[in-house]
Amino acid sequence: MKVIAVYSTKGGVGKKTAAVNLAWEAAKEFRVLLWDLDPQGAATFLLQVKPKVKGGVAALVAGDSKVSGAIRSTAYDNLDVLPGNASYRDLDLVLDHAKKSEQRVAKILEQVERDYDVVILDCPPGASLVAENAVFSADAVVVPLVPSPLSMRSLEQVVEFVGASVSKARIVGFLSMVDRRKTLHRTTVEQLPQAQKAVTDVVVPATVHVERMGTERAPIGSYAPGVEAARAYGELWALIRGAVKPKARRKKS
Ligand SMILES: Nc1ncnc2c1ncn2[C@@H]1O[C@H](COP(=O)(O)OP(=O)(O)OP(=O)(O)O)[C@@H](O)[C@H]1O
Ligand SMILES: [Mg+2]
Repeated sequence: MKVIAVYSTKGGVGKKTAAVNLAWEAAKEFRVLLWDLDPQGAATFLLQVKPKVKGGVAALVAGDSKVSGAIRSTAYDNLDVLPGNASYRDLDLVLDHAKKSEQRVAKILEQVERDYDVVILDCPPGASLVAENAVFSADAVVVPLVPSPLSMRSLEQVVEFVGASVSKARIVGFLSMVDRRKTLHRTTVEQLPQAQKAVTDVVVPATVHVERMGTERAPIGSYAPGVEAARAYGELWALIRGAVKPKARRKKS
């Protein structure tokens, strides 16, 4: 089972959007679990899953409830969700009180080791204990980067954050919400992937097709498969797949 954390220290850069679309792409071939670690439960909403988690995330961390009982299936084959909800607001505190506090997420995932080939973590922004857990368990950390001096700083922060962990996760940056009418965006697309080994040349454009995910409540590839943004998430998944090499043990359907 390979774990892919979609993470940035910065908010609103396209983490949830990437997490949902990557999970959908991966589910074409693998058994996939998307764990929505965000208290807003946005990825959960997008996949039309009810956000309820009995006993909240605290019960999962304490081992009082089994993760299998909290997992929900989606409308898509081989794509399940561990829903996020308001209880995740306290997750940092809950983790802080637990033993080996940076390893709890990895520990919980051990329960479903045989059930999934790929786990995608949609992380909240910031350098929290939740993020430390995500990075600890991850084989790859995927970082959406909106062209701006601040998001370049966020890539450095993620590199430092992963470097400070025992994690050997590969960092995979990609440009997100790119508006080619803007000079800064065009020059970033030309220069950043060349300058930074960790940044792939996948470019997700800023487009209404992605915005529509909120009303369709579906992955972009399911309603607009031909558009550039849908293809970009497909390419991004192909790169991540090549880097982490998940093994398909058995297809569920
Ligand atoms: N390529 C895109 N084109 C247009 N809109 C986009 C694109 N990617 C993301 N968005 C929109 O930008 C907003 C923020 O994206 P998203 O929720 O994925 O970011 P996030 O990093 O998960 O945010 P947060 O840090 O708040 O969890 C959303 O409304 C989303 O629909
Ligand atoms: Mg998010």
